[in-house]
This record gives sequence, structure tokens and C-alpha cells, in this order.
Amino acid sequence: MSSKPAPSAAKPFAFEDGRDEQRKVGVWVIGARGSVAVTTVVGALALGASLADMTGCVTALPPFAGADLPEMRDLVFGGHDVEATSLVERADRLVRGGVVPAPLLAERVMTGLNRVERAVRPAPSGPAEQRVLQVREDLAQFRDVEGVDRIVVVNLASTEAPVAPHPAHAEPEALLAAVRADQPVVPDSTLFALAAVLEGCAYVNFTPSTGASLPAVETLARRRGVPLGGRDGKTGETLVKSALGPMFARRNLRVTSWSGTNLLGGGDGATLQESGPAESKSTSKQHVLAGTLGYLPPGQVHIDNLPVLGDRKTAWDLMTFAGFLGVGGRLQFTWEGVDSALAAPLVLDLVRLTARALDVGASGTLEELAFFFKDPAGDGPPHDLAAQWNLLSDFATNLSSVRTSASHATAATGSPARAR
Ligand SMILES: NC(=O)c1ccc[n+]([C@@H]2O[C@H](COP(=O)([O-])OP(=O)(O)OC[C@H]3O[C@@H](n4cnc5c(N)ncnc54)[C@H](O)[C@@H]3O)[C@@H](O)[C@H]2O)c1
Repeated sequence: MSSKPAPSAAKPFAFEDGRDEQRKVGVWVIGARGSVAVTTVVGALALGASLADMTGCVTALPPFAGADLPEMRDLVFGGHDVEATSLVERADRLVRGGVVPAPLLAERVMTGLNRVERAVRPAPSGPAEQRVLQVREDLAQFRDVEGVDRIVVVNLASTEAPVAPHPAHAEPEALLAAVRADQPVVPDSTLFALAAVLEGCAYVNFTPSTGASLPAVETLARRRGVPLGGRDGKTGETLVKSALGPMFARRNLRVTSWSGTNLLGGGDGATLQESGPAESKSTSKQHVLAGTLGYLPPGQVHIDNLPVLGDRKTAWDLMTFAGFLGVGGRLQFTWEGVDSALAAPLVLDLVRLTARALDVGASGTLEELAFFFKDPAGDGPPHDLAAQWNLLSDFATNLSSVRTSASHATAATGSPARAR
């Protein structure tokens, strides 16, 4: 790796009170100037400055109290983006759009945002290998400048089209050879995931893009001893589906159709207008029904871009079902929410959990994080929200029982195969 001069930046916004710097966690965001990303950064800064409470954060609940997770003020941010809009400008836009309350952009938060701004780099372009090397270099530099041991890389970039299966996806050596040869079989999100894993960082894919979900990346993560979480954050319609699907199954009511329409604007709405990204998102949203009902009822998921809605999303779902003696019924729900405000606390939860997992030596896909995802990665993790919750709270209990040491990895993950 070549070396670059250190940027003029920036002591981290946290730790001006002289607390133990070893607790710091670097958070490197792919898509750092996007709506979810900036809401996440503003949220962490506001929570770190006690300007808001932890409502909406799952890790604020009692099962996580003893898990020794990093605090919000322990997080320092950087990242990549292809856009140049400043974080402050983006935060102002989020205030105007009703995503972030205006009083939160207090002086301390603005100072923090300006510091993060200096740690955001242009996303690299050029041949695939060059891009991986550049991302690794940027991560290494972030580690040095911020003085962090642990980095969690989070993908919050625009959704990509799905990738066609290719033999190079199976094994690390074949994947790395395809990258070196600049073969167009490795999507952008996977190049970032590869760089993260090779650099020893935990990696979370909050999007439906491919990221670390190829077997080759999973194998590499196990070899390198880094945990993975993914994919596609579960923040609205699919969250409700993962609670309602098991209800129909346990009540022995047969769902005869389930259709949904999602209306949204913002950057995500615009991206999902394109057929490739829309296919990734719709596929990701459908897994929950087959996973909770045991069959896939007829019906479709529609996604429409309605720019006037901005980040305010509406989902309408209608399901029909057959019951005793074939007599049926219907259920409809409407979910309305501010997308980025629903997503950001979950991003922070995932950062806290994967940073701690990195501490205790967990590696490979963390199925225990299925609760957070529409399309949870792993060997058949549950789709039922209650089962996912049990898995997650057991994980928190196990994390509570270990100190920071790789030798305790088995206790933390319950799986010797994941130990570093
Ligand atoms: N509730 C939610 O908001 C929610 C839930 C689940 C998943 N997601 C996913 O999170 C992602 C972000 O959503 P958003 O609303 O913030 O979208 P957004 O359009 O506001 O932000 C995406 C950002 O990614 C950047 N980007 C695009 N390509 C890039 C690349 N190659 N490298 C680096 N940066 C790149 C864009 O410039 C933009 O700043 C999307 O993939 C979305 O599907 C969002």
C-alpha cells in the first residue's frame, strides 16, 4: 500500500473530556453524505452530547445493559461518497425535510459535523484492484489519524442492481483474481466489503446490495477474524411483516395473497426508480414471507418514487387469508414513517454490536443480528421477529459474560467455528 500525507484534520469530537481513548470506535460509512448516513452521524453527535435520548435504539433496552457496548460518544466517523454536498448542508436539508429536529443542530453537533467532514473522502474510481487498495489506504489512514483500534465499515450507499452469479464468487482466491483482472463480475459494494475485511474491519451492509454476501467474502472474513452483518436494514413494511407472518402461521390461517405498495421520495426513492436497484429491494423484501409462513403467497411488492414525500415513506399492505371451513378474511395496514429516522438508530445499534463482536473475536456472518435485516445473511437464520429477538438477546447475554479477549470468542458467539 502506498502512503499518503495525513490530512490536516481533526481530533475526534469525542474524548475532549480525557476519557480512555481505547474505547474509541471508528465508523467508516460508504455513502457518508446520504440521508441515512447524515442522520446517523447527527444522531450519534446529539446523543453523545446528551441532546436527545436513546428512544429508537434497540441496544438501549435492558438485555444490552451489561454487554459492554461502546457508548455513542465513543464513536468517530469518516467515510466515502461520490457526491460533494457538505454534511452540514445535507443536515440542513434533513431539518427542512422534517427528518432531524432543528434544535439538534446545536453548536456542538455542528462542530462535530465539521470534524467528520474532514474525514470523508471521495469514493475511489478506476480499475477494481486500484479501488480496493485506495479504500484500504483510506481506512488505514483513518485508523492512524483518529487513533482507533477498531473500525466498523457500514454500507449506506445507494442500492445497486443485483449481480449475476459467477464462479469467482465462491472462493477468496478466485474473487481476488477477478478483482486483479478487473473482471466486471464483482460489484462496487463488494469491493468496499473486500477492502474492509482485508483491513481487519467489521463490516455491516445496511443496503440490499451484494456487499459481503458472496461466499468468497464470508470465507475471507472468517480467515481474517472479522464479523459481518447484513443485509438491508429492516425499518418499516418488512418489520411489520416479520411480526405478522408468524401470527398467521401460529394461528393456522392460510395467507392467500399479500401485496404491498411503498411510496417514498428522497435519494433512495430516486434510486429505486431504476429497475436494477428496485429488483434488489423487492427481492430482499419478499424473503420474510417465505421464511415466516413456510410458503410464498401470491402478491407483489411495488416501490414508487414520489419526490414530494422526501424521506416520509408510506407503505400499504393488503393480505387475504383463509380460515376454518375455508371462510376467509382480510387484513390491511398502513405504515407511515420517516425513513432515515427509522434507519439511523439501527445503524448505531449495529455499529455498537459489531464493534463489540470484533473485540471478543467473533468472525464471519453474525446470524444473531438477523433482527435488524430484511434479508438476514447466514445458514438459515430465522425470519420471525420474536425468534430473531431471542437470538439477539442471547447474543447480548453472551457478550455480557466475556471480557475483551479473542480467547473468549466461543462464549460470545456460541460457535467455535467463528472464533478467531
Ligand atoms: N429506512 C431506510 O432509510 C433504509 C432502510 C433499509 C435500507 N436502506 C438503504 O440505505 C441506503 C441509503 O439510503 P438513503 O436514503 O440514505 O439514500 P441516499 O440516496 O440519501 O444516500 C446514498 C448515498 O450514497 C452515495 N453513493 C452512491 N454510490 C456510491 C458509491 N459507489 N460509493 C460511495 N457512495 C456512494 C450517494 O452519493 C448518496 O450520498 C440505500 O441503499 C437504502 O436502500 C435504507
